[in-house]
Amino acid sequence: MSNFETIIYQKQNNIGYVTLNRPQALNAYNIQMRDELYQVLGAIKDDSEVRVAIFAGAGERAFCAGADLTEFLTAPSPTVARQVRWERDVWGLFLSIDKPLIAALHGYVLGDGLEIALCCDLRLASEDTQFGMPEPGLGIIPAAGGTQTLPRTVSKAKALEILLTGRWIKAEEALRLKLINQVVCRKELLSETKKLADKIVAHDPTVVSYAKQAITRGLDLSLEQGLGLEARLGSLITSSRQR
Ligand code: COA
Repeated sequence: MSNFETIIYQKQNNIGYVTLNRPQALNAYNIQMRDELYQVLGAIKDDSEVRVAIFAGAGERAFCAGADLTEFLTAPSPTVARQVRWERDVWGLFLSIDKPLIAALHGYVLGDGLEIALCCDLRLASEDTQFGMPEPGLGIIPAAGGTQTLPRTVSKAKALEILLTGRWIKAEEALRLKLINQVVCRKELLSETKKLADKIVAHDPTVVSYAKQAITRGLDLSLEQGLGLEARLGSLITSSRQR
């Protein structure tokens, strides 16, 4: 699981560390990264030793500056380039993982970079972080879930503003908009993220997983259905303890 070119994947003390690793291209998301991320996400999902995963970007300048524009330029059109990306449902896999995922963000977090961050449950960002969705300027709309995950995270009006105007927002504003959980200084980004992950790892992994499911899946249900989901998950815990 370590022979990747665009991603570094490491495991330590029940935490999976995923580093997007194309710093020379500001960690732009290319097809190879898509394929490697797909494998890494599968490993995170299936490996019971991994109880939390942290996503970060290599280098000083970016978490991820979006889709690799050189692949856009070699495809007949941005739409065709986008079509190629749908061959693997990375985003469906991301959102199907019932373990907490944490994004440690710095520098540019654009397009697919922001969408990766939005597939995570918690987001920490250093003061230098800038967020944006430049897709409309390229003649496309986000296709990594961004049109759905952004308004479920910030308000509908702010999601529309960010997408339709192409305006980039900085870490402090992102915190006000509830796009991120916390702003930290750059040199403490990974240590603060790890502290958060350690607190989660200290809890029973089944309870953590059910708690995540109850909130994330419940948000897409009516209140009545959500309460039913909570009751079912709660009773699974109770019955497993009575055995
Ligand atoms: N795809 C491919 N390569 C990218 C990239 C991307 N999305 N973003 C940056 N890079 C590459 C640059 O081509 C450059 O490579 P080079 O050194 O071989 O020329 C390197 O990363 C550094 O980027 P550069 O543009 O020189 O840095 P900058 O500080 O002047 O600008 C950005 C930074 C993020 C403003 C600028 O790179 C940018 O606008 N990138 C594209 C963002 C985007 O539209 N993403 C697609 C979203 S769908």
